Amino acid sequence: MNLTPKEIVKYLDDYIIGQNDAKKTIALALRNRYRRMQLPQELQEEIMPKNILMIGSTGVGKTEIARRLAKMMNLPFVKVEASKYTEVGFVGRDVESMIRDLVYESIALVTKEYEEKIQENIDSEVIRQIVEKLVPPLPKTATQEAQESFIRSYNKMEEKVLSGELDEKKIEIEVPKRTSVEIIDSGSPVDFSSVQESLNQMLSGLGKDKVKKEVTIKDAKLLLRGVASEKLLDHESIKLEALKRAQDGGIIFLDEIDKIASGKSNQNQDPSKEGVQRDLLPIVEGSTVNTKFGQVKTDHILFIAAGAFHVSKPSDLLPELQGRFPLRVELNPLDEEALYQILTNTKNSLLKQYQALLKVEGVTLTFSDDAIKAFAHLSVTANSKAEDIGARRLHTVIEKVLEDISFDANERSGETIEVSRELVYEKLENIAEHEDTARYIL
Ligand SMILES: Nc1ncnc2c1ncn2[C@@H]1O[C@H](COP(=O)(O)OP(=O)(O)OP(=O)(O)O)[C@@H](O)[C@H]1O
Ligand SMILES: [Mg+2]
Repeated sequence: MNLTPKEIVKYLDDYIIGQNDAKKTIALALRNRYRRMQLPQELQEEIMPKNILMIGSTGVGKTEIARRLAKMMNLPFVKVEASKYTEVGFVGRDVESMIRDLVYESIALVTKEYEEKIQENIDSEVIRQIVEKLVPPLPKTATQEAQESFIRSYNKMEEKVLSGELDEKKIEIEVPKRTSVEIIDSGSPVDFSSVQESLNQMLSGLGKDKVKKEVTIKDAKLLLRGVASEKLLDHESIKLEALKRAQDGGIIFLDEIDKIASGKSNQNQDPSKEGVQRDLLPIVEGSTVNTKFGQVKTDHILFIAAGAFHVSKPSDLLPELQGRFPLRVELNPLDEEALYQILTNTKNSLLKQYQALLKVEGVTLTFSDDAIKAFAHLSVTANSKAEDIGARRLHTVIEKVLEDISFDANERSGETIEVSRELVYEKLENIAEHEDTARYIL
């Protein structure tokens, strides 16, 4: 969390080309969070975060910046689409649910941290449970000799379980119907309703709903981890820490904010959009939201709103809402050079992704430098002839060029295929130059 603004920007530079203003503003906002936390409590209360509004047309990196930040930081973070919410009282998600989502995210994050801390205890608890299934229990009235022999066989069994020698052997274990493993290991738990369900079970009725299962010891080691960590984790402190973390460090990325703007300049005035904005006001301003885990004050949650604002303008938002996003950053349209940089100078560029995919078929894919320049050039051409969809155009353009190679790659295993400028032009020139074809094909 205590990365300097420079370090944050440097990290983002690995993935996002240009957009320096946006990177700087966000980095600063995060650093100010950190600075605030170092102050005495009284002063902390006074300092409100300055929410950010990112403005930029489609495909220039708004969401990507947020996505990357989320990965990097150990802060609870959710990305939500403003257009998904409906006014309180209508069918659909009400805006307060974003705060609840943030708390679930925070619980998952803190649980994971706590689990890492007691990793060793969890491991030995798992092994203990398995070994106890394998060694016949010691009767209460055992002789000294029997006790010693029990300890010997216990230790021997423990060694075997640890070494994996018995991994294929089957045993019967008891597991709750859902375990916390599912939540934490599911990658990005965006489906919060199911996470909610699992968490409820995890935090409330531990061990109420158990099922017996016959599994190999190898699987038991995994399954029992969930059970063991539930048993060993201090859920009360996790809850408190998670609430605090969401409250003081939480970030909500409010995407597509332009879609709920409905002002004078906009023909399709829509009272329900305005209703959503009104519902948003108290949350962004600072209010208290009830969640399953307790109350959360939203005063210090950082909101980053983003939108293309093609049809509407920031001034079409309710004035009160505009005022709550004092920091404005504009993201620049991407020119040919930027697109070239995106292909060549980012950590997980599209080209690398295609190379990795075809490597699976045994094909080595290479791109000549002027082929990459041609991708960038033709993408810019297509963007200017049809809609400007920013870096997303690269996806369609490259896909079109590689379509055939990709289609029969499995038959060309062992080959090295170079994508040259000629190939790119052969596939694309006629398409990109003409408005109609560019619009439908790319
Ligand atoms: N500046 C950039 N540097 C690197 N990659 C970028 C950049 N801008 C966009 N991309 C790539 O283009 C794709 C779309 O970008 P992103 O999702 O950030 O668009 P957006 O600005 O959020 O657009 P929208 O307004 O349509 O949501 C992503 O795959 C991203 O990797
Ligand atoms: Mg986006």
